[in-house]
Amino acid sequence: MQDMRTTFTHFIIEEQRRVKGSGVFTSLLHEVITACKIISSQVGRGALVGTHGNLETENVQGETQKILDVISNEVFLKENQMSGNFAAMASEEMEDVYQIPSQYPKGNYLLVFDPLDGSSNVGVNVSVGTIFSILRCPEGVTEPTAEDFLQPGTQQVCAGYALYGSSTTLVLTTGRGVNGFTLDRNIGSFVLTHPNMRVPEETAEYAINSSRTRFWEPAIKRYVDEVQQGAEGPNGKNYTLRWIASMVADVHRILSRGGVFMYPMDSDNKDKGGKLRLLYEANPMSFLIEQAGGMAITGRQRIMEVQPTGLHQRISVILGSKNDIEKILRYHQEADEAAKAK
Ligand code: AHG
Ligand code: MN
Ligand code: MN
Repeated sequence: MQDMRTTFTHFIIEEQRRVKGSGVFTSLLHEVITACKIISSQVGRGALVGTHGNLETENVQGETQKILDVISNEVFLKENQMSGNFAAMASEEMEDVYQIPSQYPKGNYLLVFDPLDGSSNVGVNVSVGTIFSILRCPEGVTEPTAEDFLQPGTQQVCAGYALYGSSTTLVLTTGRGVNGFTLDRNIGSFVLTHPNMRVPEETAEYAINSSRTRFWEPAIKRYVDEVQQGAEGPNGKNYTLRWIASMVADVHRILSRGGVFMYPMDSDNKDKGGKLRLLYEANPMSFLIEQAGGMAITGRQRIMEVQPTGLHQRISVILGSKNDIEKILRYHQEADEAAKAK
């Protein structure tokens, strides 16, 4: 046989055998990736079907919803509600927990997701994606509330994203490394194309929305200032800046070739705690980055150790190549010590 590539189906069956699983996880992941395939198809139709626009509505965060935000949310709910694997779901686009309709059996897992990340880019044909995180439903809970979702990122059993870019890619971890798959549209299946993804420890690429420079804390200012000095500065090398404004696309680049991504808490977003959401953006991405050998911090602590206090809680996110993240952590500690000494 010529084509010996590993399909997602084969990959996940082998994983199931390796961990002697019951098959629940295999079934659950199939539902999740089917939802991603449907969203990929919807996003790919673009302006032809008139779904690129805004709705009149706002989501719980007060952001204007795109038509595709709502479509993607509905696709995820519909595809994942009937398998009997989930006890409840929560998403960026819904204020409260979504209960599994009574006609379907309930399972032991919770699904939390950002149905369309970077959706402000959708009208200009820039990459967008779906981010998801899977948690265990606490024992004995049959009607999960928001409280049951408030588990630190270290409790995640699986996390991943689908990136709808020039090709559609699925990147996944179940806590045993990170693997990437590309959608082969001819056969309708994801195929393993990026086995055992690793984030290089060294980098010369960074990503931050620098229109916010005036709001940054001293540690971020110091890091970016040094980076911008290039070969003449303390790093002794030139960096390049990349900012896609779709976290999923920025993180994918970092998982592919290293880099630093920062959406820090600053004086402008401090009241909200930051910009990105802990449960369905920061935690799943941190799990992936750590599993690939990188680091993910708030600036002062490991993101995955933060005890969540709200379903839509926001947080400061700094993640990527280990050597630079360690440096940024140190810069925060030094800035805090200097402030205390004053
Ligand atoms: P979402 O589209 O789900 O609301 O998330 C957008 C996020 C993230 O993907 C991206 O990194 C960031 O917002 C972009 O923020 P700026 O508009 O400040 O660049
Ligand atoms: Mn998002
Ligand atoms: Mn979103």
